[in-house]
Amino acid sequence: MKFQTNRPASWQSCMSCGNEVLETDPAPRCKLCKGLLEVRHRPPEISAAQLIQRFTERRGGPPGATSSGVWRFREIVLPSAESVVSYPEGNTPLLHRVALDRWAGVDHLLLKHEGHNPTGSFKDRGMTVGVTQAVRIGARAVACASTGNTSASLAAYAAQAGIPALVLVPSGGVATGKLAQTLAYGARTLLVRGDFDQCLRMVDQATTELAVYLLNSINPFRIEGQKTVIFELLQQLSWDAPDWIVFPAGNLGNTAAFGKALREAHDWGLIARKPRLAAVQAEGAAPFARSFAEGFSRRHRVKADTVATAIKIGDPASYDRAVAAIRETNGVVLSVPDSELLEAKAVIDASGVGCEPASAVTLAGLRRLVQQGSVKPADRVIGVLTGHILKDPGLLLRYHQELDPPPPGANRPIEIEPTLEALEAVLRADS
Ligand code: F0G
Repeated sequence: MKFQTNRPASWQSCMSCGNEVLETDPAPRCKLCKGLLEVRHRPPEISAAQLIQRFTERRGGPPGATSSGVWRFREIVLPSAESVVSYPEGNTPLLHRVALDRWAGVDHLLLKHEGHNPTGSFKDRGMTVGVTQAVRIGARAVACASTGNTSASLAAYAAQAGIPALVLVPSGGVATGKLAQTLAYGARTLLVRGDFDQCLRMVDQATTELAVYLLNSINPFRIEGQKTVIFELLQQLSWDAPDWIVFPAGNLGNTAAFGKALREAHDWGLIARKPRLAAVQAEGAAPFARSFAEGFSRRHRVKADTVATAIKIGDPASYDRAVAAIRETNGVVLSVPDSELLEAKAVIDASGVGCEPASAVTLAGLRRLVQQGSVKPADRVIGVLTGHILKDPGLLLRYHQELDPPPPGANRPIEIEPTLEALEAVLRADS
């Protein structure tokens, strides 16, 4: 179906066959061809200057949904949402640390730290919109497959909305902090003896048959929320777009969301030019980087293997949307080995900022782009850190306490007797 006259404020459109359905249609994919859906909005009825003024006024507003870093932008996220399920989320900082400039080889790197969201990752931005939509359509239950952050976020927002949540995660493949959160927030948690790609295939099929609302980033409303990482950082930069935005890529929901956000911000006059996107994968889970290296002539699928469990994904669901995002922004896709992402993580952590392993591909990828000459030291670069340092304490303790020989930046604790002499001996050895 195509809306001819009286287009609603927002609707959903299939990215493969162009079929259009109502904004409130609950099907997670196109019913005609199974393609990925995208939410489309009529251009805002007020000018870019008026929009920017409204966003600015809301930024310092009273606590609650309006000052949320997602719903502040509601005209370009989900204009028709009236009552929203909001923690609130977003309002994450842009951080600068000289030690990270030096390590990456740039003059002034700003890090947008999405680990400062309520459940510790950027997923909350998509989930507030996804769960709001689930309530709007009267979903009886919500579900997702996850490497851990999506499930923690879904569990928290479903608890707030009072809707049962079902999550499928790879058994033994989820970092401790994320599994603990998912259980504590009360989601029905299934540990699947398989990998993330298998979990996603299962939940994708099951939700169609069981009439449970799917809240993986296949769901286009998740993408609408994740766009606000970009809107918020552009607002923090007074709508003066940077040269580059560097970020981790796994299932490619973020890549898709960032591309869509920049397309809309540009089309609707909020920014004069688009930054280039740089999507970074872990080398053992880099099907998108392989496709990019071949000019996107073919879609690759791999058996994923990396220490960064968040992005241990071999068959990313939002591939088609992400290809469009990279093409439209003259973007690049690259990968970094685990050794480099761990080294980058140790540097981010030791700077006092801290992040989870998957997030560190941002800094490791940026260093490579500078070494290759793609990013110039004077370029204005925003790096996105996607998750909080406490998400994966297991890997941290292995890195600092156990690995032999100690890896770069390892900070070994020293066990001592409970005496002043023992303490003095250590301090003497240090000086
Ligand atoms: N960084 C973190 C911390 C993540 O949790 C994820 C994805 C990504 C980056 C990659 O983002 O999938 O949009 O390309 N985590 C998902 C999950 C898959 O289930 O939590 P993407």
